[in-house]
Amino acid sequence: MFAGAFLSLNNARQNAHAEVVSAEKLVLYLFDTAILNNPDLAQKKLASTGFHLQQLKHMRHLKIELIDSTGKVIDSNQTQDGKTFQNEAPAWFERLLNQLTSKWEPSVRKLEYHDVTLGEIVITPDPTYEYAEKWKQITDLLSLVLVFFVLVNLMVMWAVSQALKPTAKILDALNELENGNLAARLPAFKLPELSRIGEKFNRMVEKLQLSVLQNHKLTQQLITLQEEERKNLARELHDEFGQCLTAINTDASVISKVADKKYPELKESALAISQLSRHLIEMVSGLLQQLRPGILDELGLVPALLDLVDAWKMRHKNIQCDIKVSSVKEYLSEAISIAIYRLIQESLTNVARHAEASKVHIEVFSLSQLGKEGLQILVKDNGKGFNPASAGGFGLPGMRERVEGLGGSFSIKSDNGTEIQAWIPNKPY
Ligand SMILES: Nc1ncnc2c1ncn2[C@@H]1O[C@H](COP(=O)(O)OP(=O)(O)OP(=O)(O)O)[C@@H](O)[C@H]1O
Ligand SMILES: [Mg+2]
Repeated sequence: MFAGAFLSLNNARQNAHAEVVSAEKLVLYLFDTAILNNPDLAQKKLASTGFHLQQLKHMRHLKIELIDSTGKVIDSNQTQDGKTFQNEAPAWFERLLNQLTSKWEPSVRKLEYHDVTLGEIVITPDPTYEYAEKWKQITDLLSLVLVFFVLVNLMVMWAVSQALKPTAKILDALNELENGNLAARLPAFKLPELSRIGEKFNRMVEKLQLSVLQNHKLTQQLITLQEEERKNLARELHDEFGQCLTAINTDASVISKVADKKYPELKESALAISQLSRHLIEMVSGLLQQLRPGILDELGLVPALLDLVDAWKMRHKNIQCDIKVSSVKEYLSEAISIAIYRLIQESLTNVARHAEASKVHIEVFSLSQLGKEGLQILVKDNGKGFNPASAGGFGLPGMRERVEGLGGSFSIKSDNGTEIQAWIPNKPY
């Protein structure tokens, strides 16, 4: 547009100059042939009505004035207000063209009769009209260029946005992937380059999904093995250690009774053995509870959870704890029951160890998600909270692993207190 404007300006300057000069030449020629070669006519005209220069008021390129010997203008082709047309060119435009063009000098023709100067005709070139015309041409041209420029840009923007439309879909899929939705896939694109990207993306996500699945399966196997080992250890502890301790305790009671009558000096030792063995029995029972709550296998998840909460409340009397279990099926797979049990167990341990809370609320209820039946678990405390992104430990990652390994979802919200939410489907995968 700038180049166009410059070229038009240069053209306008040359054209205006040529037009004004040619008009001036024509008038001078007519004047010379008509007046100077016929001085009588000039005398007559001057004496009578002048030259009727008003009739030349449409000669806008020239200002023609008849001046008498005293210097007074007695006839002119200018209108009374000096304006012959509506000048639309701005002043700066005229100034610019005037600067670029050599100065316009007036041409003067003296009117003499018998060597006496009667007056003179002064012809001053006036390019204003030409300038206005050129201004109009230039503005028309530039307006056209501007409209063209805007239209072309709009079309380019539309074309580019059409071509880049699929990138929004790619971005959506990447966002979904970032949020953990491994089912995100890209549709088939028409553009060959994008279509290749889409295929690669889909293949990559499939591989990722497969490896995550394998990872989950592996961790599930590890967790199952760990639980199995705990179960065996608990059985051994119960059957061997527990039985022996009970026997020791019984024997100590017998010794104590006999010592009462025959060996009073042994009475104290017998009581000490009995006390110690009872203490050990309690300890083993606590350990068994930690390792594998027998109640879970015998009576199922709900009584086991109530028992867990009761035992926890006994140990933490300053924290108010309530549990609400609703519409949970009686029969749940062992993996799911143990996962829920361990999740609540670890959450309660965390509340006691880190939260500085005065209240904990636990809820377990049935909830369907994406057409799948499942169980929702919620543990909420009113403690000091923490930043889950920077928490280091094995408890929380372990909970997540257990839940996600069963095809569920796990989330932690923590600002005013902490809220742990998990959903586990009834049928994993
Ligand atoms: N309910 C809670 N309130 C406040 N902070 C918590 C809570 N639960 C966890 N945290 C914070 O998150 C961190 C990680 O918890 P996580 O259970 O993973 O590890 P841990 O309890 O420190 O150790 P462990 O591996 O024995 O469980 C904790 O150290 C604690 O700072
Ligand atoms: Mg912990």
